[in-house]
Amino acid sequence: MVDSAIIGGGVIGLAIGWRLALRGQSVVVIERAKTGSGASHAAAGMLAAGVEVEPTETNLWQLNRASQQLWPEFAAELESASGMIINYRREGTLALALTPDDLRRLTQSYDFQLSHGVELNWLSASQCREMEPAVSSRIRGGVFSPHDHQVDNRLLVAALRRAFLAAGGRLVEDCDARLVQSHQRISGVALAEGEVITAAQTILAAGAWSAQVVGLPDSIRLPIRPLKGQMLAVETEGAPLIERVIWSPTVYLVPRQGGRILVGATVEEAGFDPRLSFGGIFGLMEGAWRVLPALEEAKISEFWTGFRPSSPDDAPLIGEIYPGLILASGHHRNGILLTPITAKIVGDLIMEATAPPPSFLPSRFD
Ligand code: FAD
Ligand code: GLY
Repeated sequence: MVDSAIIGGGVIGLAIGWRLALRGQSVVVIERAKTGSGASHAAAGMLAAGVEVEPTETNLWQLNRASQQLWPEFAAELESASGMIINYRREGTLALALTPDDLRRLTQSYDFQLSHGVELNWLSASQCREMEPAVSSRIRGGVFSPHDHQVDNRLLVAALRRAFLAAGGRLVEDCDARLVQSHQRISGVALAEGEVITAAQTILAAGAWSAQVVGLPDSIRLPIRPLKGQMLAVETEGAPLIERVIWSPTVYLVPRQGGRILVGATVEEAGFDPRLSFGGIFGLMEGAWRVLPALEEAKISEFWTGFRPSSPDDAPLIGEIYPGLILASGHHRNGILLTPITAKIVGDLIMEATAPPPSFLPSRFD
């Protein structure tokens, strides 16, 4: 018998597991492939609370901001616990406008964020180019957001895995898990290899696959779906082309160590189709080239697709959905950003019976 069994070894499952193990719980994380092989591997690692939120999504925006504020301490603790560097970078994010229409939209989100007290700087075209000299001369203006940082999500997964094990957690990889029910309660998980693990509570953190996990009670219908994203990475030589994360209306560019730049991402209702598409990749390349013409010479090093776990209102679902079963999924485009706060909300629910924020309870869709 363990205190907590967690299905899914992405950032959400691993972070919850690590924090619970630190609080003295016996925890097992079960991952059907390798840890971090889902959306957590595919992501761009931006910790951008504002850029992807619609001005009407105030609750989500507040959750994003709260998690963003936890990030510096979370990163420092994780690096110390794992002995690994996760490349948490604080250069900030520059959102650019290329057309008069872009400028209008940028002004809207600028006004929304300013009215909520966010520190932002409106920049003229020449100020944008002073900050990032390689951006196109066709830029019309931009907004610099100093607190929108980034982390290398693949290193994050590796560090969470190591910290979880160092805290005494048990990890089972390459093994499918299903839920086990007895007496109107989820009593644990059964592993594909035959072992049954009884748990005081089971946490479902299976990302875009959460609604498909075998053994979900018939009364539970999870409104979580995959939202496909295609991305690519290029390598540049010499001095880094850009220092900061850059957003244009069609793509984002994320600078990484050693001249690597990530270009993302498509947002597609395509189920679990893992194939790259001509139009998807062409759109990313064209959009990136419009913002950063010097990419013409860059060498392409990687293409990939991933599946965001999305919900009808783009916000996560966190809370008990059945006796013994807690859901932590649906993090949509912000799961890396929301990792620290999700681990805290679930940890406080289990250890202190603190109710999760009502706006993110799964019951809002009942
Ligand atoms: P996942 O990482 O998908 O993990 C779920 C795991 O569960 C998988 O490893 C899967 O194998 C496992 N699993 C499923 N079923 C079972 C089962 N039955 N038994 C055992 N294991 C099972 N977020 C940001 O904050 N910033 C970004 O810049 C960003 N960029 C993104 C770019 C792209 C292209 C994509 C696709 C996503 C991006 N996201 C970003 C979103 C973010 O990646 C996700 O919200 C987050 O990774 C979700 O984490 P997770 O642990 O819930 O899911
Ligand atoms: N947060 C970036 C993406 O989902 O593409």
